[in-house]
Amino acid sequence: MTSRLPGFYRLPPAERRKRIAEVVGGDFSPFAFRAIDAGGLPLEAADGMIENVIGTYALPFAVAVNFCLDGEDVLVPMAVEEPSIVAAASNAARMARPAGFTSEISAPIMIGQIQVTHVDDVDAAMTALAAVAPDLLADARRLVPRLAERGGGPVALEPRLLARSGPDGGVIVAHLHVDCRDAMGANLVNTLCEALAERVASTARGRAGLRILTNLTDGRTVTVRCTISDDCLDGADVREAIAAASRFAELDPYRAATHNKGIMNGVDAVLVATGQDWRAVEAGAHAFAARSGRYAPLAVWRAVEGGLAGELKMPMAVGTVGGALHNHPAARLALELAGIDHADRLGALAGAAGLATNLAALRALATEGIQRGHMSLHARAVARSAGATGDLVEQVAAELAACGDVKPDRAREVLARLSQPLKEIK
Ligand code: MEV
Repeated sequence: MTSRLPGFYRLPPAERRKRIAEVVGGDFSPFAFRAIDAGGLPLEAADGMIENVIGTYALPFAVAVNFCLDGEDVLVPMAVEEPSIVAAASNAARMARPAGFTSEISAPIMIGQIQVTHVDDVDAAMTALAAVAPDLLADARRLVPRLAERGGGPVALEPRLLARSGPDGGVIVAHLHVDCRDAMGANLVNTLCEALAERVASTARGRAGLRILTNLTDGRTVTVRCTISDDCLDGADVREAIAAASRFAELDPYRAATHNKGIMNGVDAVLVATGQDWRAVEAGAHAFAARSGRYAPLAVWRAVEGGLAGELKMPMAVGTVGGALHNHPAARLALELAGIDHADRLGALAGAAGLATNLAALRALATEGIQRGHMSLHARAVARSAGATGDLVEQVAAELAACGDVKPDRAREVLARLSQPLKEIK
């Protein structure tokens, strides 16, 4: 299986489907693409997912190419409305070849919070909770036997002191760490927190407060790395400029926010395509970025001998069982296209997409700026809307971009001129 599909972007969508079916091979049936016709979600399925449904809302569903992750080529499903993200990811993934991206994934530990307020003696409560933790954990494990069979389940209960006194009296929070295996785990963790809350509160001699998971899933992270040689960067100057752009984000939270937005362009597109709770990952990403007390970039780039080394680390709460996957055929198709059958691989792939879109953005910003690339994509859209099809799309777009006048009137004019010889031959 190769993810190198030269010229893929020039094919019409139906031809792209054929090409992907060939590449995926095996039992993959081209009929599977029906799942992404008309928005990828039947109305009845949508009606079962949320309340007050009156329709569905579609996004473009694309495949980024050239990705190699942990030694294996992989197609990257992306659902996103912003032009140039898929192209940027594919271009950056090509630069990262042949080694591609490597990943390191932590255990899939989610954290649930059980808040206890009005604790008179917080020190005694901390000691009592630490003493009772093994029993509480054993009880919690009995509540999730199937997860325990799969090697997961509650693994630790850690009391944290939040306030000695104040409007809510002494406040303690018990953190329940749960290995969720291939589930994102929100329901699982929330259920466990609710089940344990009264015992935790009575042990601490306080009142049970909120019981809910935290989205700062710093126990469930992905680290993705890649190196890019100077040859792929058009020289050492570009390498130095990208490293300087990374340092800018490390120095300035205002820049770090935009730098991280460029990362989330890739991450979220994969999460949306694969039916994940992308808001949860977004919340975790930004809280993690600010964990030192200063908002920082999630990925950094360093100039190394002959090239550039990038590393991204971020929380990644994703699942390949449960959630929207039950009901969303397009999300299941996305996982199938990427050959993903467990959460670790999905987290690594989303991370790789994020590191790729970050690299592409920094490279463009550090050299010609991003507007030129955006403009040529915009030019293609204008060419299509003026009626260009097939090869004419590229030709019209190239002329529009070259003269810098990317307007419908100009596109129609160029299209009429370029179509002329064809008409004469007929
Ligand atoms: C635009 O969607 C993302 C960028 O602003 C990211 C960046 O500035 O690094 C180009």
